[in-house]
Amino acid sequence: MYEQVSHSLLNEILDELKPEVRRQDLRYFYIRLGANFYAIYSLFYLLYGKRADFKEQMVKLVSVMANQYLCRAEELEITDKEREKDHNWFLNQQWVGMALYADGFAGNLNGVRAGLPYLQELGINMLHIMPMLKCPEGASDGGYAVSDFRDLDERIGTLEDIQELAGNMHKRDMLLALDVVVNHTSNEHEWAKKARAGDSKFRDYYYTFETRDVPDMFEETMPEIFPETAPGNFTWDGEMNRWVMTVFNNYQWDLNYSNPSVFIEMIDIILFWANQGADIIRLDAVAFLWKKIGSSCQNEREAHLILQLMKDCCQVVAPGVVFIAEAIVAPLEIIKYFGEDAVNAKECEIAYNATLMALLWDAVATHNAKLLNCGIRSLPDKLDRATWLNYIRCHDDIGLGFDDNDIIACGYNPHEHRKFLVNYLTGNFKGSNARGLPFGNNPKTGDARISGSLASLAGLETALGTGDQRAIDHAIKRIILLHSLILSFGGIPLLYYGDEIGTLNDCSFLKEESKAHDNRWMHRPRINWDKAELRKKNGTVENRIFESLKRLIALRKTIPEFADFNNRDLIELYNPHLFAFWRSQPEQSSSHILVVCNFDSSPQHMNLTRLGNRGMFRSGSLRDLCSNSAPASFGDQLVIPPLHFYWLTDRI
Ligand code: GLC
Ligand code: GLC
Repeated sequence: MYEQVSHSLLNEILDELKPEVRRQDLRYFYIRLGANFYAIYSLFYLLYGKRADFKEQMVKLVSVMANQYLCRAEELEITDKEREKDHNWFLNQQWVGMALYADGFAGNLNGVRAGLPYLQELGINMLHIMPMLKCPEGASDGGYAVSDFRDLDERIGTLEDIQELAGNMHKRDMLLALDVVVNHTSNEHEWAKKARAGDSKFRDYYYTFETRDVPDMFEETMPEIFPETAPGNFTWDGEMNRWVMTVFNNYQWDLNYSNPSVFIEMIDIILFWANQGADIIRLDAVAFLWKKIGSSCQNEREAHLILQLMKDCCQVVAPGVVFIAEAIVAPLEIIKYFGEDAVNAKECEIAYNATLMALLWDAVATHNAKLLNCGIRSLPDKLDRATWLNYIRCHDDIGLGFDDNDIIACGYNPHEHRKFLVNYLTGNFKGSNARGLPFGNNPKTGDARISGSLASLAGLETALGTGDQRAIDHAIKRIILLHSLILSFGGIPLLYYGDEIGTLNDCSFLKEESKAHDNRWMHRPRINWDKAELRKKNGTVENRIFESLKRLIALRKTIPEFADFNNRDLIELYNPHLFAFWRSQPEQSSSHILVVCNFDSSPQHMNLTRLGNRGMFRSGSLRDLCSNSAPASFGDQLVIPPLHFYWLTDRI
């Protein structure tokens, strides 16, 4: 849109850019800046327009963008242009991701590089490497307490290693996803040190208070993230003689985004990482970016404005880069991180599907898909150019973030049902073979979350302990069933390292003082490469899981119906153990795949004649793509074996 005020400001800003910047070839930068400037200006004005130095800050923002544009490597610019042309590139079904810690997976970044063939063997072509920047020596929240946003933890590698890895991955057509921890810094970050030393410029980067008055007001409505280990949201800093806002751990200082300098620093950092070769940037804890007294300080409107502004700025400099929103919040809040009131994603193109994740664990515990059906049905359609990151496990705990209304609609009591799930997944329910541990118990609210590795939560640890073959079999089936869903649901499946070989809980963290209090470390393993070798030996647990996943991943990539274009229709079923949906090809509505999953440990049936007009699907003509054979059936009834799934087609 052309708008006079912003346009004349843009002219002034361009005149004020340093001569050496002006002399460079900024053709593409100017085209994109022109297209986005009205949005950038309006958002920046909404956030910071009342400040006397608004214009000065605006000039600073544009010059940071111009400078980062000048640093962008030619190869990355070529990718930018290709992706501008093929702007739905990340919705394609070919992408399959994995998240890993460089040290846990292979010691360091060079180890990760050496491990790329292993990942490719499985079919992984997008890699999220967990944070690896400089952080405090002891506890660092798994690297989420950053002390220097531009320098790596030397145990993991160097900046050159990252660039080399990115280049190597790009040659292999693999995408690199890196974190930018936007909400906070460690208390050892230079900004925090300067703030502590009394530098008022840097005090304004954080929320600090002389007395408890403001903190006490905030506390009235702010929940606690780590109630057991970091209660409260403020920490007293004895050197500074002030309270600091620390929503997560006491060594993670929340950044103050009401200060435009913080925003500009952070966009500079985001673009810096885009220029190191990241294809995807995971923005951590985005729900927390704006703090307001009297609110929960999560999901505030301004947090969304900040993300929109980040997106608009990134679009100008590095349009090939997409964002992942890490917002583990209520289902109807998560979807807003794609951006509202627009057809195309305006904030983050990708968001963690924490809703599906939690619902999958509900289905495991209850052996039925009642809540899964309700929960997915209640989710509004997402925007067109946006997609989910579908996962079963990640480095964090499992939060039971369902909508209470859905729990009630399924005939459960929300409080009792959540209690049941925690008990079940921690093995404290009769008949449960899950081996998780409660995390983040909050006696004040009754909330609890769950830690544990996928295999241990799915019953493999218990089964291997007793040697019960049927139980081992069921645990493996459950692991594959869950993966079959993230591979077919629509969105980018994100596997978690170690799950591909059935890695169990690892309790060695208890021996390390800086980790012992945080049981999320039980599912952040060090890969045992001897165990991984067993994937090649027929009949081992590792082989059964790895080979099945490998086959499913390869298959997913050949099924265009699995690309994510809001092309999924849930099927209403009368059997609560089953979860079923259609996936169709957007341009060929006659072409579809029927996905059916059975969460029960007994066989179940489904009446094919009830499938309505897509019911040319008849048992006689069906083929399961996974086994390349006809599914079991009896008359019009499809028979789904225990913990089994089908990807069905009527194509011959
Ligand atoms: C995100 C990370 C989590 C971390 C938190 C604070 O939620 O996934 O591991 O504790 O942010 O940085
Ligand atoms: C984020 C998530 C929360 C998670 C925490 C760290 O705040 O919202 O669910 O538990 O990070 O684990």
